[in-house]
Amino acid sequence: MAKKKLMYECLACGYESPKWLGKCPSCGAWNQMEEKPADIVAAEGKDQINVQTSKQRQEGSALKLDEIEYTQEDRMSTDFQEFDRVLGGGVVEGSLVLIGGDPGIGKSTLLLQVAMQLAQKQKILYVTGEESFSQIKIRAERLELNNDNFYLLADTNLALIAREIQRLEPDMVVVDSIQTMSIPDHTGVAGSVSQVREATAILMRIAKSNRIAIFIVGHVTKEGNIAGPRMLEHMVDTVLYFEGEKHNRFRVLRAVKNRFGSTNELGVFEMLDVGLKEVGNPSQLFLEERILGATGSTVVAALEGTRTILAEVQSLMTPTVYGTAKRTASGIDYQRISLLLAVMEKHCGLLVQNQDAFFKITGGIKLDEPAIDLAIAMSIASSYWNKPTQVDDCYIGEIGLTGEIRRVSQIEERLKETAKLGFKRVFIPKNNYQDLKDVFDIEIVPVKTIQEAVRKVF
Ligand code: TYD
Ligand code: MG
Repeated sequence: MAKKKLMYECLACGYESPKWLGKCPSCGAWNQMEEKPADIVAAEGKDQINVQTSKQRQEGSALKLDEIEYTQEDRMSTDFQEFDRVLGGGVVEGSLVLIGGDPGIGKSTLLLQVAMQLAQKQKILYVTGEESFSQIKIRAERLELNNDNFYLLADTNLALIAREIQRLEPDMVVVDSIQTMSIPDHTGVAGSVSQVREATAILMRIAKSNRIAIFIVGHVTKEGNIAGPRMLEHMVDTVLYFEGEKHNRFRVLRAVKNRFGSTNELGVFEMLDVGLKEVGNPSQLFLEERILGATGSTVVAALEGTRTILAEVQSLMTPTVYGTAKRTASGIDYQRISLLLAVMEKHCGLLVQNQDAFFKITGGIKLDEPAIDLAIAMSIASSYWNKPTQVDDCYIGEIGLTGEIRRVSQIEERLKETAKLGFKRVFIPKNNYQDLKDVFDIEIVPVKTIQEAVRKVF
């Protein structure tokens, strides 16, 4: 008797192997291999849903390069400047965009608002597998949105949805969420790795062949990844994350992958009773609650994509009362903090082993770039010595292990933004200072080492 063919699949990344493995060789996850149902293995590769091409050549015929009509960027503007910027200048026709984020963070609200806005000029189909018709209607009324070109479909059957897309021929489709979609005749429950992957592949084909922009919402797991196979992120054109602390009104939309624009681009929104509102000048908002003369507080001009954001770094150092010293950080990478504490201990004479240390970037944003080092170091020193820094000072610079202050990118942009917001003095790396060509309306203090910075600031 012929032996049944067994396949195992990693739940985290979709890697396949004929043997069960404890650790996935592709993504390194432990204990994620699961037997793949035999009918899926057998059905693999077969198209379950027939996607017709409506506006394009016949499928499967190759073209020569010079036969291909090259149109530059067919983009639709949403009138949400923050949203457009994150996408690289508007919604690209025929693109598949994945939006991830914690439950309740506002993904559905954002996409409903964007879709309604676009519906003024384009035809939009909003598919929800999470809410009912009436729930969406209530939300739209609450947001005071209504539009004739806006179609709503509350269904989870992807075959029906695909048919409806082909009938309506919309310019943009929102699928909320990919985990609720199910494909008839495809084994596995909705939300399983194989269903999610297949559903995404089908939507990808629809997007490409009919030149429809499709936005799919993806839930995020506890580890912060979009649930389902990691390869989902590889399949789509653009991956956006909608982040923020639930109890904070700010939300940040971030591009982590973008085939049509720069990554790490950032858009800031504010969640109000009437939905999401764009924040045009986030620096001002992030700094508005700063207490003048407080110790442990400094301001950094950090770069997020193409945009400079001024944010407040706060440190709190207190003697450890019991046991080992506590360390927590929100909005900054913990490793970076540990490294900076060690550098400060070695080069500036701070004794930090017996100090609890807490760090925070205010406004619920996350900063992740080397240029924030100097501001963190100065806020550590300020809290440790209990001496405030000047309130209209700003700090920019990366710190090396030997205490040197290293050059950072795009210094001119940062200086412009700092001056614009009314800061009087800015500390920057000496190497950057030598390269400056423009004149800025702010006092610039070049520093070469952390010791020199400490001497000049305190
Ligand atoms: P939602 O878009 O449903 O989140 P997600 O799709 O990411 O799960 O947003 C849910 C939260 O947003 C909910 O807790 C209420 C809040 N909210 C507002 O504060 N104002 C509003 O106008 C709306 C529509 C929602
Ligand atoms: Mg939702």
